[in-house]
Amino acid sequence: MAPSFPILLTLLLALSVSATPLTVARDAHTLVSLPIAKRVNVTGVAQIVKADQARAKQLKARALGQGHQGKRAGSEPVENQGVTYVAPVAIGSPATTYSLIIDTGSSNTWAGAGTAYARTSTTKDTLNIVSVTYGSGNFEGQEVTDLVSLGDGLTIENQSVGAAFYSEGFSGVDGILGIGPVDLTEGTLIPSVTSTIPTVTDNLFTQGVIGAHEVSVYFQPTNQANVTNGELTFGGTDSSKYVGEINYTPLTTTSSASNYWGINQAISYGSTTILSETAGIVDTGTTLVLIATDAFNAYVNATGATSDSATGLYKITAAQYANLQSLYFIINGVSYELVPNAQIWPRALNSAIGGTADSIYLILSDIGSNSGSGLDFINGFAFLERYYSVFDTAGSRVGFANTSYTTAETN
Ligand SMILES: *[C@@H]1O[C@H](CO)[C@@H](O)[C@H](O)[C@H]1NC(C)=O
Ligand SMILES: *[C@@H]1O[C@H](CO)[C@@H](O)[C@H](O)[C@H]1NC(C)=O
Ligand SMILES: *[C@@H]1O[C@H](CO)[C@@H](O)[C@H](O)[C@H]1NC(C)=O
Ligand SMILES: *[C@@H]1O[C@H](CO)[C@@H](O)[C@H](O)[C@H]1NC(C)=O
Ligand SMILES: *[C@@H]1O[C@H](CO)[C@@H](O)[C@H](O)[C@H]1NC(C)=O
Repeated sequence: MAPSFPILLTLLLALSVSATPLTVARDAHTLVSLPIAKRVNVTGVAQIVKADQARAKQLKARALGQGHQGKRAGSEPVENQGVTYVAPVAIGSPATTYSLIIDTGSSNTWAGAGTAYARTSTTKDTLNIVSVTYGSGNFEGQEVTDLVSLGDGLTIENQSVGAAFYSEGFSGVDGILGIGPVDLTEGTLIPSVTSTIPTVTDNLFTQGVIGAHEVSVYFQPTNQANVTNGELTFGGTDSSKYVGEINYTPLTTTSSASNYWGINQAISYGSTTILSETAGIVDTGTTLVLIATDAFNAYVNATGATSDSATGLYKITAAQYANLQSLYFIINGVSYELVPNAQIWPRALNSAIGGTADSIYLILSDIGSNSGSGLDFINGFAFLERYYSVFDTAGSRVGFANTSYTTAETN
């Protein structure tokens, strides 16, 4: 910090003699919004259930400090995600624009999986290698600092990013925009450093680009395989994307959900409680809604669903769909309803996941362990496509609001 003192002094002097007010930092209410595109990989057999379950397992292992210390995933098969949400992020000068997966469940930002990382004059090497293992893949790279631009040319100087030289499981995308809690960056550098790596959100806030330390996500439900239908907003909420008020819930203190954007929630099917209040996470990197095995069995029992080996999902008949009850997610005393149409996979995309056109597949799946595990549900984008979500670092809370698609019959 010391070397910057003369510059700061000069700036203060310049300000004090200036007749017209200078804008040093951006307006404190500036919002930075990025378009989000949904991609369903129609060329590969999308094993979305396996990919989601592998992710759940990895999230639990990682929170316990196992499984990501620079090891490549040797024994675990890597599942391509099949469904991803990506945003365009420009890095360097002249900039290269990369399609990065928006991930609230991890916090390192990196590029170079598809499009190779293009070094420019703004790219500065650090002394570290970076390595992260995800449920659906892993990467290793050179940790650099660089100029990162989001939205309308709003730039973050000196953002620490990974320039991947190896990655597995990220076909069709270039890397990850990690917007999870900063603590998840701990232990990702080699040689290891004791401090965390400030995330994109952290730097936008500390560099004065945004006025609030939070990020909001809007996913509009879609039945197209490849469409720009969402928005990621840094620094606040976009009131044109939700209706009514935003209700907040404090972050959970239950581990391992507490390592992520973790909350407490109960779930009812119709009037029957299938999951008593317990801890889990909200995650943009998960496609489905995963719930504890005992809760899922109760749901299957209540709906009459049967498992489908082609997709890995459960399916119901037209008659069972006609009788399907709403699911209610009770979060901090507020009930968030998933109407029957919100519980099924978009039928227009059945073939994209290896299913048959006239089948009705459910978007709920088994997390792979009974409730009481410390991470008993994942509200993935099947939930987030129905509710606007706010990830508020400063307030240690997560918010949800209705959208015009909360009860829409889009599937
Ligand atoms: C640049 O970022 C790195 C890592 O986040 C940090 O250690 C360093 O102090 C920053 N340098 C400047 C000049 O802001
Ligand atoms: C789709 O996934 C397959 C592997 O499952 C991969 O080879 C292919 O490159 C992917 N295509 C796109 C456009 O992501
Ligand atoms: C989806 O969009 C990406 C980026 O625009 C493009 O590269 C890809 O070919 C598209 N895939 C399909 C199946 O249309
Ligand atoms: C959300 O919409 C439901 C109806 O679908 C309504 O009952 C509820 O009050 C709304 N919540 C808010 C916070 O606006
Ligand atoms: C399945 O449903 C029946 C009633 O339809 C109920 O009696 C039984 O306890 C349920 N089993 C489980 C495992 O939820």
